[in-house]
Amino acid sequence: MRVLVAGGDGFCGWPTALYLSAQGYEVLVADNFSRRGWDEELGTESLTRISTLRERVDRWRELAGRGIGVAVGDLTDERFVYEVLEGFRPEAFVHFAEQRSAPYSMIDRSHAVFTQVNNVVGTLNLLYAIGELVPECHLIKLGTMGEYGTPNIDIEEGYITVEYKGRTDTLPYPKQPGSYYHLSKVHDSHNIMFACRTWGLRATDLNQGVVYNVETEETTSDPALTNRYDYDGIFGTALNRFCAQAASGNPITVYGEGGQTRGFIDIRDTVRCIELAANNPPGPGEFRVFNQFTEQWSVLELAHLVEKVARTLDLEPKLAHLNNPRVEKEAHYYNAANTRLLDLGLKPHLLNEETVERLLLTAMENRDRIHPETFVPQVDWRRPHYR
Ligand SMILES: NC(=O)c1ccc[n+]([C@@H]2O[C@H](COP(=O)([O-])OP(=O)(O)OC[C@H]3O[C@@H](n4cnc5c(N)ncnc54)[C@H](O)[C@@H]3O)[C@@H](O)[C@H]2O)c1
Repeated sequence: MRVLVAGGDGFCGWPTALYLSAQGYEVLVADNFSRRGWDEELGTESLTRISTLRERVDRWRELAGRGIGVAVGDLTDERFVYEVLEGFRPEAFVHFAEQRSAPYSMIDRSHAVFTQVNNVVGTLNLLYAIGELVPECHLIKLGTMGEYGTPNIDIEEGYITVEYKGRTDTLPYPKQPGSYYHLSKVHDSHNIMFACRTWGLRATDLNQGVVYNVETEETTSDPALTNRYDYDGIFGTALNRFCAQAASGNPITVYGEGGQTRGFIDIRDTVRCIELAANNPPGPGEFRVFNQFTEQWSVLELAHLVEKVARTLDLEPKLAHLNNPRVEKEAHYYNAANTRLLDLGLKPHLLNEETVERLLLTAMENRDRIHPETFVPQVDWRRPHYR
């Protein structure tokens, strides 16, 4: 199968491109390297030393004896999208290529506008190009569990059956996202659903939980294939950030009480979920939603787990409760369904002390690359900043 991985230079995209290539898929990566630029803008960098995309794919070709194609360009550039689809004619298009940090989108007006234009326009370009050039192509789009928010009822996989005034219908699950980034994903979901209903496209929206861990079998097979490890207050997701904090002697920063509960997934399961979705495409016109996470954790539980494992490595971790920079509930009901990928055969890697130890050891090896000032939350959800 020809699979195009947009955002294939990023944290989820690169391991996915490698994994799919290792399984024998013909893979083309498209990326504009904006993620590397945002690191420069924020004065940070991946905790692990990462090669350029060119170095990565060259080394993979030497090691695996098969190539991964590269197309450098921006999905918001309609000519680029059209040309790449016309040239490669993918059977599946995996779309990771968005600005994915909630805090980044909440910095100020220009970052909110950038996030929504980048994400929504990129996806719209794609829908038109798929519809015109390769209408059979299966769009596998990364959404987020954050689209749902934290409702006081169970979260279903995309749809909910509602009885109202004696009538019944199955409708899109109500969304209560917590940032302009999460809102961009909600807008994407609506646009994709509309394209499926109207033009008969086929799509899977993967509402992914927070991804932790950085290593897969392929990324650890050679230093040139190393995955990025984000640890800063803007792009670093909870568990990875906590490990970097503990490894560098900085406090593990829990926002507020830490009762915020979310769905989590190991990067090794992310890559497998993409394969499962690709191998089991929806029918024409179908807009399918899977909740892509394997277990639920509260932020405080994660912090305690990191603290415990860090002690076994002779670190002296300290927990700090910071005033929550975000507007979110710190104690709430959370019970989300996640059976559809399990039904397709996903065998989850559940979070354990071994994974946390690997993350801590990687962070300890790369301690000199940590910029502690970037741990501090600098984004204020509570007030709009025009610039
Ligand atoms: N990392 C997580 O915990 C997580 C959780 C839920 C959902 N997701 C979703 O998964 C996807 C991938 O996340 P990630 O952590 O790998 O992010 P990432 O920032 O590491 O990777 C995204 C990649 O897309 C590229 N990109 C962004 N905008 C682009 C554009 N307009 N044109 C071309 N390339 C562009 C970036 O350069 C980057 O390489 C995102 O859509 C994100 O919202 C991630």
